[in-house]
Amino acid sequence: MLSDMIAVLADPEDGSPLHKSDDPSRLISETGHQFSIDSSGFINLTGQDNPSGHGDDPAMIASREAFLSGGYFAPFVEAVTAAVYEALDDAGVPDEASPLICEVGAGTGYYLAHSLDAVAGSQGVGIDVSTAAAQHLAQCHPRAVALLADACSRLPLQDESVDVLSVVFAPRNVAEFARVLKPGGQVVVLTADTGHLAELRAPLGIRDVERGKVEQLIQQSQGLLRPVGQPHCVEFSMRLDQEAIAAQIGMSPSAQHIDPDDLAERIELLPDSLNVTARAVITRLGLAQ
Ligand SMILES: C[S@@+](CC[C@H](N)C(=O)[O-])C[C@H]1O[C@@H](n2cnc3c(N)ncnc32)[C@H](O)[C@@H]1O
Repeated sequence: MLSDMIAVLADPEDGSPLHKSDDPSRLISETGHQFSIDSSGFINLTGQDNPSGHGDDPAMIASREAFLSGGYFAPFVEAVTAAVYEALDDAGVPDEASPLICEVGAGTGYYLAHSLDAVAGSQGVGIDVSTAAAQHLAQCHPRAVALLADACSRLPLQDESVDVLSVVFAPRNVAEFARVLKPGGQVVVLTADTGHLAELRAPLGIRDVERGKVEQLIQQSQGLLRPVGQPHCVEFSMRLDQEAIAAQIGMSPSAQHIDPDDLAERIELLPDSLNVTARAVITRLGLAQ
């Protein structure tokens, strides 16, 4: 898979193309920067030999894997996959054209793998700054390549190389998204909305999602990306037991704001299982010009 994808990769420092080197565990850019391929399969494009401490930690990634494998977010993954499919349809890109689907802040690769399954000939790139996430991403799908890189800096991709770029509950870098999108390409963003996990907020002492996130995204994108159609809300109820609730909170930034013992005590005081609202907004954006 890496051999097929190498042509779209770029040195994050200066954008020069990447090539294989004499050492099979390294890629080299035209300007001479070297990047290692981890034994788990991801390409380390951070420029650091031992990157650590960024993005989700191993415990958060383990919680994410546990929660997502329970299928609780199935309506979210279905909505993202449908939006990716519609974006390719809008651009008139057939499966046989091997469209490139990139997910930024891809975590365990749950959403990317579903999109790749839905589009038979597609190829995938998952980008995450967390080493634990990149290790999962490298195994998420036979047609995916995993890149350890900071999405807030220059993306390690060539200009106009991506057909659809998805971002699910992860950081956005709209200038870079606009640079790497092919003409006619789209960005699909899933943003948590006010009311998400509402039933857990007061009992567990976690903050609600701030209002106006989608408006903020559209505002930030001005001049670079413009909305395609209307953003739409995906809302459903999940029946969660205490173990699933612990995994849901463990995979979110809330886990870092509450003492783990306090959190465990608060979860134990909840009923054995309860209905919890999941609520997020899908926004599709195309190039502004
Ligand atoms: C809330 S998680 C969402 C993961 C995945 N999209 C999902 O929904 O399952 C946010 C992800 O973004 C990653 N992340 C945070 N900052 C990042 C950055 N600057 N560049 C790339 N990834 C980043 C985290 O490591 C984490 O995996």
